Amino acid sequence: MKSNLKILFVSSEVVPFAKSGGLADVSGSLPMALQEYGMDVRVVMPLYSSVRKNMLKPDPVTDALSVSLGGESLSAKVFEAKSQKRVPTYFIEREDLFGRPNLYGYSAGDYYDNLERFSFFSHAALRTAQEIGFKPDIIHCHDWQTGLIPALLKGSYAVDFFSGTSVMFTIHNMGYQGIFPAEKLDKTGLNGIDFFHQEGIEYWGNISLLKSGIIYADAVTTVSPTYAQEIQTDEFGLGMEGILANKKENLYGILNGVDYNIWNPEKDKNISRNYSPDNMSGKKAVKKELLEKTGLDKSLIDKPLFGMVTRIDKQKGIDLVLEVMDELMALDTGFVLLGSGDKHIEDAVIAASKKHSGKIGIGTGFNDPLAHQIIAGSDIFMIPSRYEPCGLTQMYALKYGTIPLVRATGGLNDTVFNYDKETGTGNGFKFDSADPDELLACITQAVSLYKDKRNWKQLISNAMKEDFSWNRSAEKYIEIYNGTIEKKDLY
Ligand code: ADP
Ligand code: GLC
Repeated sequence: MKSNLKILFVSSEVVPFAKSGGLADVSGSLPMALQEYGMDVRVVMPLYSSVRKNMLKPDPVTDALSVSLGGESLSAKVFEAKSQKRVPTYFIEREDLFGRPNLYGYSAGDYYDNLERFSFFSHAALRTAQEIGFKPDIIHCHDWQTGLIPALLKGSYAVDFFSGTSVMFTIHNMGYQGIFPAEKLDKTGLNGIDFFHQEGIEYWGNISLLKSGIIYADAVTTVSPTYAQEIQTDEFGLGMEGILANKKENLYGILNGVDYNIWNPEKDKNISRNYSPDNMSGKKAVKKELLEKTGLDKSLIDKPLFGMVTRIDKQKGIDLVLEVMDELMALDTGFVLLGSGDKHIEDAVIAASKKHSGKIGIGTGFNDPLAHQIIAGSDIFMIPSRYEPCGLTQMYALKYGTIPLVRATGGLNDTVFNYDKETGTGNGFKFDSADPDELLACITQAVSLYKDKRNWKQLISNAMKEDFSWNRSAEKYIEIYNGTIEKKDLY
């Protein structure tokens, strides 16, 4: 077992530079945890327009990294972020591909050239390693945006520089499969062997970069043990269940961790008052401000306030909440949501907030400080997801003494356990089916427990004691990196 592996960590979003969801949180915090275990980790990501403001004193690495792609030779600039405390992070600059306001597209749809963008990024990440002379023991790739890399390492990059390199692919969400028309195959720059067939990157006549990652990686992981099982079934595999079941010898579920330097009520700079299990008065102050900020009735201060911070997408089950909104309000509660995404669902939430004025508050767009304030200021945090590979906000909520109410799926199932009044154990509320009646029954139970002050206090205390820091999961990654490298050495 090597304790000083060289790891090239390739991700399309990384906190604090660019974020659309949990992938960025993981890509910001896991490399730091690995570094603490003595690993030599380098992160590579695209230089989107939004990255510039967060990049402290970038150091140019090269002005002309050349990438040959689709018969053309393209070049990029590469920068390294200068910051003593952080893992070295390399940024691929190519204005025509990444100099855009968003990461992947507009609200109307994805950018038309995402295959070209992330294919270029994948090649450029490998070329950067060569340019800086960093010969990785393992390349750790994430989601479809980097799904080409495992295939590239079996093709033209297999020899010389990367001959001793293994590759791990982590699935953060099966719902995003990186599907592109077959006619774009030459834009992938795949050559050396034939990749476009059923046992390769071909998926119902198209290219799938997610499938590419799964098929060609030496090890595949996903972000919770339950999701690793679920994705091998028809219901959750979204068409790839067979491919995943075939890979099951090398498929692992490792629960994401939390960076408690960022998500911690004792030191969070986004909330006006800090608090801890020993002194909870700050939580009430944060709730009061949240009510004011979102235009909710002052009287809600002593009533259950439900919160949600989420991408607005069918995955997240907000439509289930909408179905029971009148009943939720009839229980004399408040509801505050921060999210953006699906326009129809957004409109329906706005309509509900007009109907129940003063009891439903809405924040739109991407607003990190408000996300922290809702997670800290609400009493109950709802995540009724249809599926949830891991989910991070339930783990954040626990640390803030905000009780998660979740559907028993994926990582939610692995981190939230029903509170039991008899034994005083458990950290939240959990229901089984994506069914409005079940959700409502669970909400009713939570509201009733909220009124039982003694048990509620116990529940909050249990929640705040939970520890989902990265240690255990980082050790598992290191174990699997090593196992994967050893297997490769045998052949
Ligand atoms: P997913 O990656 O599926 O969106 P996760 O629970 O893993 O779900 O991670 C979501 C992350 O994105 C959390 O850090 C959450 O706080 C953040 N987030 C989601 N929506 C917003 C928003 N509108 N504004 C700010 N942060 C958001
Ligand atoms: C995805 C999943 C989410 C997970 C996150 C980070 O976006 O939807 O459940 O927590 O990735 O792994």
